[in-house]
Amino acid sequence: MTAPVPPAAVGGLAAQGAPAATTGTPSGSPTGAPPGGPAGAARPDHPAGTGVAVPRVAIVGANGHGRWHRRAVAPLHAAGRLRLVALVDVRPIEDEPAAPVPPGTTVHTDHREMLAAARPDVVIVCTPPHTHLPIALDVLAAGADLLLEKPPVLSTAEHRTLAGALAATGRACQVGFQALGSVALAQLSAAVGQGRLGTVTGIGTVACWQRPDSYYARSPWAGRRTLHGRPVLDGALANPLAHAVMQCLAVAETVTGTPVRPARIELERYRVRPIEVDDTATLRIVTPGGPPIVAAVTLAGEDFVAGEVIVTGTTGRAVLEYPTDRLLLPGDPHPEEVPGRQGLLANLLAHRADPDGTPLIAPLARTAPFTAVLEQVRQAPEPTLLDGDLVTAAGSGPERVVTVRGINAVLRRAAEQGALLSELAVPWAVPPARIPLAAQDD
Ligand SMILES: NC(=O)c1ccc[n+]([C@@H]2O[C@H](COP(=O)([O-])OP(=O)(O)OC[C@H]3O[C@@H](n4cnc5c(N)ncnc54)[C@H](O)[C@@H]3O)[C@@H](O)[C@H]2O)c1
Repeated sequence: MTAPVPPAAVGGLAAQGAPAATTGTPSGSPTGAPPGGPAGAARPDHPAGTGVAVPRVAIVGANGHGRWHRRAVAPLHAAGRLRLVALVDVRPIEDEPAAPVPPGTTVHTDHREMLAAARPDVVIVCTPPHTHLPIALDVLAAGADLLLEKPPVLSTAEHRTLAGALAATGRACQVGFQALGSVALAQLSAAVGQGRLGTVTGIGTVACWQRPDSYYARSPWAGRRTLHGRPVLDGALANPLAHAVMQCLAVAETVTGTPVRPARIELERYRVRPIEVDDTATLRIVTPGGPPIVAAVTLAGEDFVAGEVIVTGTTGRAVLEYPTDRLLLPGDPHPEEVPGRQGLLANLLAHRADPDGTPLIAPLARTAPFTAVLEQVRQAPEPTLLDGDLVTAAGSGPERVVTVRGINAVLRRAAEQGALLSELAVPWAVPPARIPLAAQDD
């Protein structure tokens, strides 16, 4: 089923012990083809008779979650809808059996060198969050469009810088909030717009995941709020459960019909390990003229709750399980899976071909309220450590998991009632930090 991966394309020189700054394939192509040129490529840039250029795509940060992108790219490459021209990672490229590196794809350890050699049209940036802005600016300066992983940037100032570069270059930036492409979310939004819930009075989200100790050893920025003196951004709200927050902001956008402008956040952060960020939190986002949003999330859950967005109105309630696209609308006997996800990369390619006819699903501008909120979460007081009788540990070594006793029940109440844990008489809850947000630009 899978073609053998050319060794040079997988490991590059980095795998052979070359210095990290050298290019994986000095010639620019493991097949010996001219860099970026169609001559030695597995797939021509202009398929015969079409006269339409196949977009050249590169991935920066090809390991870690980048392997998910490699799997997403593979069928589009095979179908001739794009051509994967380059992979970049500061570490040797890991094998991905479900997405072998196509012949002709070059491997690099420096994204600037790749941009010059491979001349991509679209670059997927899937590196740690604190590296996003400089890499994104280099990509735009090289004339390519961006699929930038979430969280796109670390602050509103960085958001403005990137937005300015997009305006100056005329390039496009799609942000990796893939759940925004869900048909189920569109159906929920339509139901809200049609008044099926009456007046929306609150939006909540609950998610209870479990992460072992090894999760916090996966990368240097894991569990950190600074790294080598520079801000980084991890934590349940900022990273794995960022989608829960973004889905709520998307619903709030539908309710008010305008971009969400958070005026204040109220935040309780907790942790069960010696980390610098939250693994458990309740967050209220207060928006003028819009319903309050409450996110109640944990990575120390007793049972797995994938992630529900709970929209409460004066005449009914809707629940969207956003990772699975299962939707319950008022009057439905039980949740139904609503199949269909528009892929962010396919949408970006369609937008490039028809900018006016195909809007981006997750343009940078749509993520401004998320970034404004997350900037304050990052700067908020340290999370409170939960230990002793409050927690239970199971397993050992890297697979040890820690859970908070009773956490699932209280987080569900928080999301359903729009309350923070301190407002639910949870004995270990701490008073929230109340943080005003500066006015955001358009
Ligand atoms: N959309 C989602 O559902 C989702 C899921 C997981 C992660 N993410 C996001 O993807 C991004 C990457 O996350 P991760 O967990 O894979 O992180 P990671 O720390 O594992 O980094 C990914 C890869 O980037 C490489 N890298 C680091 N700096 C680089 C640089 N300057 N140039 C080239 N490569 C570099 C690393 O060696 C690593 O292989 C983050 O923004 C994260 O929030 C999104």
